[in-house]
Amino acid sequence: MSGEAAVSAPGKTILFGEHAAVYGHPALVAALDHRMTVTARASTFSERGMLRLEIPSLRIARTVALTQTVDAVKEPGDLAILAVTIGTADLIRHPDGFHIRIDSTIPAGSGFGSSAALAVAVVAACRRACGDDIAPDEIARLASSIERHQHGRASGVDVQAVLRGGVLLCRLSDDGFLEREELPGAGARLDAFRLFHSGVPNETTGEMVGAVRRLQDREPARVREAFETIAAATRDGRAALLRGDGAALVPLVLRAEAALEAIGVVPGGVIEAIRAIEAEGGAAKISGAGGLTGAGAGLVLVAHAEPEWHERFTPPKGWIAHRVRLGAEGLRSEIAA
Ligand code: MEV
Repeated sequence: MSGEAAVSAPGKTILFGEHAAVYGHPALVAALDHRMTVTARASTFSERGMLRLEIPSLRIARTVALTQTVDAVKEPGDLAILAVTIGTADLIRHPDGFHIRIDSTIPAGSGFGSSAALAVAVVAACRRACGDDIAPDEIARLASSIERHQHGRASGVDVQAVLRGGVLLCRLSDDGFLEREELPGAGARLDAFRLFHSGVPNETTGEMVGAVRRLQDREPARVREAFETIAAATRDGRAALLRGDGAALVPLVLRAEAALEAIGVVPGGVIEAIRAIEAEGGAAKISGAGGLTGAGAGLVLVAHAEPEWHERFTPPKGWIAHRVRLGAEGLRSEIAA
């Protein structure tokens, strides 16, 4: 069997709802137009069951046996191997091997959704290279299982954001099903937001989710109150987007950030920088898992109702502006190079 497919998936930002989403609260998420492109070739190898993986931006070129199990994602590239293994396990006819090439402009390990984009795009590219026109719900199921291998407990909202694109409200139901509501046109109402990379966090998403779970064991009332505040901001954010009132999102950012600080997912240096933004009449929040100990918390959303304020705004030292459109297209086919 031989065939080739190329797909791309966007990054994502969580506008409201991170961490609370893991416990069944809603999250408002938007795809952003940094993209990851995955090209998969189902190929004839001299040896059966081999995977050739190339990620030029990380200088990765590895050939591994597909029977090799990846129990823990330790090195760059492990997640891609895991995605190929899980994503193709139930194929009826297996090719001799795969060639995978990954090119990405999504910052890794920083709340921009690079793991979800990788899981979704690798599954879709491998299956399509084998002639399997896999349905989006099945891609979501497999990609969520790949994420759980990497992060432990995961809500699945990142996977939905990069798969479906646009702006979505998602909620993990009690029976493990991810409900979603698409908010068409909402991307155009997000111009109060600018995106900054505050530095790669010291902790992984899995470690951050674990830290919140331990805090919940020790101080359930504190975590419950924070999650309720986050959930209310998420619902109010949805309502503001539906009535076309982007400016109403700014005070919600203040509330959500205060709740995220209360559960300890914003490191000290980032809290200081956010207080300085608030002193200037703006608001800012982490987006994604955040961090505990380092100087950076990954993606930070800065909000202000006046576009001129953003023009005057000087970002804190070390923060990098990412000028990306929100509400970008989800998973799509590309022409194989
Ligand atoms: C990570 O982008 C968002 C978290 O809420 C984890 C999850 O929802 O799976 C921290």
